[in-house]
Amino acid sequence: MTSPIRSRLLGTGSFLPPRRLSNADLVAQLARDGVETSDDWIVERTGIRARHFADDGVKTSDLAFQASSKALQAAGLQPQDIDLIIVATSTPDMVFPSTACILQHKLSQTSPEAAGILGVPAFDVQAVCAGFVYALGVADAMLRAGSAKRALVVGAEVFSRLLDFSDRTTCVLFGDGAGAVVLEASDQPGGILATEMRADGRHVDILCVPGHVQNGNILGDPVLKMEGQAVFKLAVGVLEEAALKVLDKAGLQKTDIDWLVPHQANIRIIQSTARKLGLPMDKVVLTVQDHGNTSAASIPLALDTAVRAGRIQRGQRLMLEGVGGGFTWGAALIQY
Ligand code: UT7
Repeated sequence: MTSPIRSRLLGTGSFLPPRRLSNADLVAQLARDGVETSDDWIVERTGIRARHFADDGVKTSDLAFQASSKALQAAGLQPQDIDLIIVATSTPDMVFPSTACILQHKLSQTSPEAAGILGVPAFDVQAVCAGFVYALGVADAMLRAGSAKRALVVGAEVFSRLLDFSDRTTCVLFGDGAGAVVLEASDQPGGILATEMRADGRHVDILCVPGHVQNGNILGDPVLKMEGQAVFKLAVGVLEEAALKVLDKAGLQKTDIDWLVPHQANIRIIQSTARKLGLPMDKVVLTVQDHGNTSAASIPLALDTAVRAGRIQRGQRLMLEGVGGGFTWGAALIQY
């Protein structure tokens, strides 16, 4: 009897644009435009102390390229070893083609042999802050179905471009960055144990960027709008549900989780989820203080940070979970 195919995580990588703004930097910048906020408010309500913003001209694919290069290096692989590319983003370089295709082109130019990555399927997944969990779920399904052998899965965003810096209720929350993982189809135990992807389109309006392109013009407001409290309430409920669902699918218990690697939107949402899963905060990977909310990039950024710090070890079980606009949410249980 042959063993079932699993998606094993070979390597992780991440990248933050160098320009770092502490809360004090942002508070001073906003004050110049008459927008009043404070380090105390931001820290107390969100846990955020700093975020990184990409310079003008730096695109999502640039951040994705850096994170992907590091993930490939960690996996001991070259671009030509990859036969599937999925990028989770809500801030693509262009309306089309996908950022995944642009990333593929950039990776193909790194060496003569790297051109071997051209021709493999490449596409974006748009599930906002749940995007990376969705992308992992899709990649896992494709690897297990035999459609690909080695997948590059990326979460990358320049959310700073969507912010309305006159709206203090949103502009202090987000940052830019990218994270990536390389997955390989394997008949060895471990890897991705279960995934869950969910959406409820009734809540489209509580977190959205309503603008769109029409006849060469942008119609509607092309900046981020959020009903913070409504998102908060929905998030704490659905994150527990998704986590319990993947544990059930994998036949495991809450006590089997070694690390919670959550979407980094708000420390209070993370604390609530950890409490519901019975996990002490020292089993939770926290980067929200340094990165802010980087949407689809936040989970792979947190994962790579903990892997490179030597906190997450091979064989440990990781609960990844994300929630975002749509409303979308999901979880992935991984044996690293
Ligand atoms: O990544 C996708 C998922 N997104 C999320 O998970 C975000 C979920 N929501 C949240 O994290 C929180 O709802 C926020 C951080 C956005 C807001 O925190 P809150 O505790 O829900 O605050 P609030 O909206 O109830 O606002 C409380 C007060 C208000 O003043 P009044 O009406 O009580 O006088 C706001 O005007 O805080 C005020 N406020 C601010 N004050 C200083 C809102 N933003 C700011 C600010 N600085 N930046």
